[in-house]
Amino acid sequence: MSSSWVLEAEGISSGYAGLKVVDGVSLRLGRGEVLVVLGPNGSGKSTLLKALFGLLPLMEGRLRLMGRWLEKPEPEGMVRMGVGYVPQVDNVFPSLTVRENLEMGAFGVRDWRRRMKNVIELFPELQKKLDLPALNLSGGERQMLALARALMAQPEVLLLDEPSAGLAPGMVKRVMGRIEEVRKTGVAVLLVEQNVRSALQIADRGFIMAGGRKVFEGTPEEILSHRDMGRIYFGMRG
Ligand SMILES: Nc1ncnc2c1ncn2[C@@H]1O[C@H](COP(=O)(O)OP(=O)(O)O)[C@@H](O)[C@H]1O
Ligand SMILES: [Mg+2]
Repeated sequence: MSSSWVLEAEGISSGYAGLKVVDGVSLRLGRGEVLVVLGPNGSGKSTLLKALFGLLPLMEGRLRLMGRWLEKPEPEGMVRMGVGYVPQVDNVFPSLTVRENLEMGAFGVRDWRRRMKNVIELFPELQKKLDLPALNLSGGERQMLALARALMAQPEVLLLDEPSAGLAPGMVKRVMGRIEEVRKTGVAVLLVEQNVRSALQIADRGFIMAGGRKVFEGTPEEILSHRDMGRIYFGMRG
């Protein structure tokens, strides 16, 4: 039986060298959907993405991709099956040019020249900088390049770890707008974000993590009106 979900996790736990960080998280991501993962620092959001991409072993639970249960998720296989991952840091090669970064992302893509053209249409700010080393880009441009690079492989699912971290508010908006454009092309996005309001503006649903567990899930409206949001994020009383 195939499933309408592109990515499903069933009670997954993961972590580092026997230390369980993510504890029994389940989620489902539909085609062209944006699912936002919120939660304070250290709550396990990055660890969850790494586990979903096969960078960390699953201690418990299982993953299903395009309706198929995965025996042993690992990054190379995930990329082949249509998953792209943009890590929180070190997501471009600084000494390589923008063009070279994009080419690296196209590894294994047959019609990569046309793909590059399409991706640059979506990220026009990269056009003039194609021959510059990525280290010459601004923070915002670098995040755009990281997204563009992930898109070169024509993924159906994108795992994005805080793509707007450290950016000025105007640039945060632009990055979110671009993710929305990507989603319109049918790509499903699992988006980890600290910019809660900006992320919820483009999200279909979201959930909050605390201490490695999913503590609340809902629509953007439900999350914003959740009375414990302040306490979860800032340790406020009441
Ligand atoms: N490479 C690592 N080795 C050991 N522990 C780690 C490693 N990376 C993260 N952790 C721990 O896992 C927990 C969750 O981290 P992380 O997933 O990065 O949280 P978030 O992305 O929500 O800020 C933290 O307690 C952190 O110290
Ligand atoms: Mg993180």
